Amino acid sequence: MPDPLHQYREDGWTVFPPDPAVAAWAGACASVAREMLVDPALAQGYRCDGTWFAGVNALENDATGAVPGRVPPLSGAAVAFVRGALGHGDVSWDRAQVSVVFPGYPRHGAEDTEASFRYRHTRCAAHVDGLERSMPDRRRRLSETHSFLLGIPLGEAGEDEGAFVVWRGSHEIMRAAFAEAYAGHDPADWFGIDITDPYVAARKRCFEVCEPVRIAPGMGAAYVMHPLALHGVAPWEGAGMTPRMVAYFRPDAFAGDPARWITA
Ligand SMILES: [Fe+2]
Repeated sequence: MPDPLHQYREDGWTVFPPDPAVAAWAGACASVAREMLVDPALAQGYRCDGTWFAGVNALENDATGAVPGRVPPLSGAAVAFVRGALGHGDVSWDRAQVSVVFPGYPRHGAEDTEASFRYRHTRCAAHVDGLERSMPDRRRRLSETHSFLLGIPLGEAGEDEGAFVVWRGSHEIMRAAFAEAYAGHDPADWFGIDITDPYVAARKRCFEVCEPVRIAPGMGAAYVMHPLALHGVAPWEGAGMTPRMVAYFRPDAFAGDPARWITA
């Protein structure tokens, strides 16, 4: 495979081929995930008229990525990559999102406006993580400074079945836009700054010049994405009926030092 660090820096993500340690983790996590889908306590996790279970922070894993008694600690090539090549050492794993996309995604749910529903279809609801749209003005401000995103497929689904989409090279366009917008501001104040206009302009630029690439590897694989990369979920176009399940980890090691979010 190409050098993972080179690909991560150039493209904004890297995909690791299936390995036994990740396959064991994913297999165990998949059975937990299937129980979550029918847990009444998690029913509020459904979006898009039932075609997406967002499952944000829904997995009850510990800092090793394990669910005691059910799922082993995280290990494998992608974990070694974030610890070593990305320099995160002993990562303290956050509670994973368990995202499940169903056939027919996206349908129009109550949480979508006409514009946001259209954006799911035309642009895969593309966004950069960690920018919160605060009410009542719906302007965007920095809320979380993730170190990276680790995605672990919990099953097999094709590229035309609700795939994860990343805009190649978008992290560098975003990096330049955020660096300019925050220049001259104390990093401690960044969380209060309205970033909407530079973000939307940078996103438009990404759509113009970056290639959207679908990331849909199978069981045992894993992918690591740069925290500034523009990404989303493609509409379900295929005939398959097996939902796409993926666990996403987003450790936030830069919360006390947001400048590292745009320099890392
Ligand atoms: Fe996201």
